[in-house]
Amino acid sequence: MKIAMIGAGYVGLVSGTCLADTGNEVTCVDINQDRIERLEQGQVPIYEPGLAELVVRNAALGRLHFTIDTAEAVRSAQLVFLAVGTPSNEDGSADLSYLWQAVEKIAPHLRTDAVVVVKSTAPVGTNQEISNRLRKLTGRECDVASNPEFLKEGAAINDFQYPDRIVVGVRTPAAEDKLRELYAPYLRTDKPFLTMTPESAELTKYVANALLSTKISFINEMANLCERLKGDINDVRRGIGHDRRIGFQFLFPGVGYGGSCFPKDVRALADMARKVGLEPRMLDAVDTVNNHQKFVLLAKLKQQFSDKLQGLTIAIWGLAFKPRTDDIREAPALVLIDQLLAAGCKVQVHDPEALKNVQALYGDKLLYATSPLDALEGADALCINTEWGDFRNPDFDEMKRRLRLPIIFDGRNLYEPETMREYGFVYHSIGRVP
Ligand code: NAD
Ligand code: UGA
Repeated sequence: MKIAMIGAGYVGLVSGTCLADTGNEVTCVDINQDRIERLEQGQVPIYEPGLAELVVRNAALGRLHFTIDTAEAVRSAQLVFLAVGTPSNEDGSADLSYLWQAVEKIAPHLRTDAVVVVKSTAPVGTNQEISNRLRKLTGRECDVASNPEFLKEGAAINDFQYPDRIVVGVRTPAAEDKLRELYAPYLRTDKPFLTMTPESAELTKYVANALLSTKISFINEMANLCERLKGDINDVRRGIGHDRRIGFQFLFPGVGYGGSCFPKDVRALADMARKVGLEPRMLDAVDTVNNHQKFVLLAKLKQQFSDKLQGLTIAIWGLAFKPRTDDIREAPALVLIDQLLAAGCKVQVHDPEALKNVQALYGDKLLYATSPLDALEGADALCINTEWGDFRNPDFDEMKRRLRLPIIFDGRNLYEPETMREYGFVYHSIGRVP
């Protein structure tokens, strides 16, 4: 099929590339000229494992193209995907300005039989509003479908190629048939293609993210409780997870969830609820607990150093909001960095992929180390924010030699407290007795 993918960010680029890989002819469009020029030269502007190879392969086979020219991409497309950003407004509602701009740009060039497919996460009613706007802009009915995306950064290719389910919100059999055909290669026999109304599809995306966020805030609150009551959250997680009604996933305690989606989607769903007169008590609590959890390492630092942080040198391992990505949007590490700088600390940071993005934000306010051990040189303590594989099995003796004081604040529970004691570290983690 001929496809236009509007927006070549994390979702658009991954989706477009994977769709090309199953034989479709895909043109990715972006308003960011630099991004498109780099892609045309085979350079992938984001770090996502496996993506660069797949982009280069499909571009070379002539079925993946990049352009800033919306008209060129849309004119021949049977499916026009919208995968532009839907960030948060100040009040928590979703900012749909990128979507509206994209709708205006595609409208004059749509084929009469094209289906516009909304992949961006957008509030209930957006699909209908896009239909209304396209009717006004084109003077005819345009087919608009919702197709929320459930991929995770760091595992995006695999998630796209092997989805647990495909959800589509459609109003016409034509849209359903086209999408069913498009996704047939991805659906193993036991994985469903679920059709529903666009409103239900829009809600499904928010409800999924809100439930996953709820699990994380819940386990973080329980971890904090474990610390006070001298329990161990790892044992508790094992104790509850074997109950198949509960399970193990998304119940890892930490420094709070970050990323471009959970925080904004929980707030946007709360905003939707308020607008229809419902008080979103659960969603507000999930957000509040998460905002609080982003300060958990700072609170432990303050306790360890009796509130005297000024003049300390603190090393940070892990800046991306999760491993296997360079994405730092709403990353808990940024909250910690801001607090440490405000308290008068010197901050030395390392991340395998996100250093460049952090440097663009903080410039010379931080010391950027190209290896984990270099970040420790002369530091009074280490804080771990992201569970990159590189941090899981470090040379503890060398770490002790590099650190000025052998103190670790581990926000991802990477090590065993007993092992750390044996190495002579003062070791703080989440929800476990030191
Ligand atoms: P992103 O910021 O990485 O990418 C969006 C891209 O769209 C940018 O490159 C931007 O330049 C481009 N753009 C904006 N307006 C445009 C226009 N008029 N024409 C062409 N390009 C335009 O965002 P993302 O992370 O890919 O998220 C996109 C959407 O997908 C959001 O609604 C998000 O909630 C949703 N989503 C994201 C993920 C994820 O893991 N990042 C997963 C599922 C769903
Ligand atoms: C999340 C969802 O998992 C995807 O299904 C969804 O498509 C996507 O949001 C989206 O809508 O954008 P993503 O944000 O890429 O994906 O990454 P996750 O693996 O979900 O992690 C999100 C945050 O939660 C990270 O900061 C991570 O460290 C944290 N987390 C996750 C925990 O603290 N504990 C856990 O047990 C799991």
